[in-house]
Amino acid sequence: MQGQRKIRVAVVFGGRSTEHAVSCASAGLVLSAIDPERYEVLPIGIATDGRWVLTSGDPARLALSASGSLPSVESVAVSGAEIVPRGGSLQVAAPGEVPRSLGEVDVVLPLLHGTYGEDGTLQGLLEMTGTRYAGAGVFASAAGMDKEYMKLIMSARGLPVGRYVVVRDRDWRSGLGAGPCAGPCAGPCAGPGERKRILDEIAELGWPVFVKPARGGSSIGISRVVSLDGLEEAIEAAREHDLKVLVEAAVDGMEVECAVLEGLDGGPPEASVPGQVVVDERSPFYDFQAKYLLSGTTMRIPAPIPASAAAEVRRLACAAFDAISCEGLARVDFFYTTAGTVLVNEINTMPGMTPASGFPMMWAASGLPLPQLVDRIIQSALRKQR
Ligand SMILES: Nc1ncnc2c1ncn2[C@@H]1O[C@H](COP(=O)(O)OP(=O)(O)O)[C@@H](O)[C@H]1O
Ligand SMILES: [Mg+2]
Repeated sequence: MQGQRKIRVAVVFGGRSTEHAVSCASAGLVLSAIDPERYEVLPIGIATDGRWVLTSGDPARLALSASGSLPSVESVAVSGAEIVPRGGSLQVAAPGEVPRSLGEVDVVLPLLHGTYGEDGTLQGLLEMTGTRYAGAGVFASAAGMDKEYMKLIMSARGLPVGRYVVVRDRDWRSGLGAGPCAGPCAGPCAGPGERKRILDEIAELGWPVFVKPARGGSSIGISRVVSLDGLEEAIEAAREHDLKVLVEAAVDGMEVECAVLEGLDGGPPEASVPGQVVVDERSPFYDFQAKYLLSGTTMRIPAPIPASAAAEVRRLACAAFDAISCEGLARVDFFYTTAGTVLVNEINTMPGMTPASGFPMMWAASGLPLPQLVDRIIQSALRKQR
């Protein structure tokens, strides 16, 4: 390495979504594992208002803990000057100063979860500014983010998904059919009765159901509803995050995750050993608390399922990765049902990388420790011509 320039990696984290703190925690872990002999790291935070700033990237201050406050980009920012990507480099623009360049960046590692990070918007910005980045491209990011289209693509490719109903904004606002529209109905109405039709369709799913924002993450805005009584409230709560909502039949069984990496040298994707999510008993399901704050939630790796089911999970994880034309990395989440079948729950194109997250743990258990894992993700991005 002596005399040779190190590879410059901009680790971008934080972001405008509700998963800001989770992204900070992902960055904390990755920044502590990235090989300083090989890489020169620029830790760039996106504040919740969308400003890009240079940060200290101090892993100790980016950790999630049950007691302390949630980590944020603000708390590690070292300058208020805004950074913008331009022509493969990052430029700093402070008010009243001539913009200066932070130098060429070989690759951006967008450790962002949720909207404006994992949904294709950031990927589009990087494409437009000629900046190379790791992970899924524009389409795969958008397709993986939207649970409706994700399921449509999975089913079209023959992958098994559970039963669900989509609650669209226009239909929800159209009212129950008896009397005037029940919603605020600011825009054009789909005609009376659409909401009633949707409620009837949901009732046919049986109880309980899971109500979720179509484009969300980290279980934020998700409720488990046991009867018609709590349904409208749960839909309104999910609508706070996305005006499109999915209501799914609750699946009885075990939650199993599988981590995927893009194949080496253009080969097929590779799947890790699957792991089981064991949710802390204080949580009703794998909610935000259970995911990041309760120490009783653990991963059991390998997942305690028959070898044939584990093989099926790995096969389906790679098929799901390919179904949305994913690149770089992903984590595919499944249910192993009490009947012994496997259902795809979702694909995450930028999976959590916190110390409590399945993605780094499952790769470590598959023989790829975190520094090598990060290395592989960066290297597969460097090989690409965007
Ligand atoms: N259909 C379902 N049946 C049973 N549990 C579910 C279902 N959908 C979601 N859950 C529970 O809610 C959690 C979060 O849902 P998920 O769809 O993975 O959303 P997110 O994108 O926020 O992670 C899951 O890990 C699981 O615990
Ligand atoms: Mg999930």
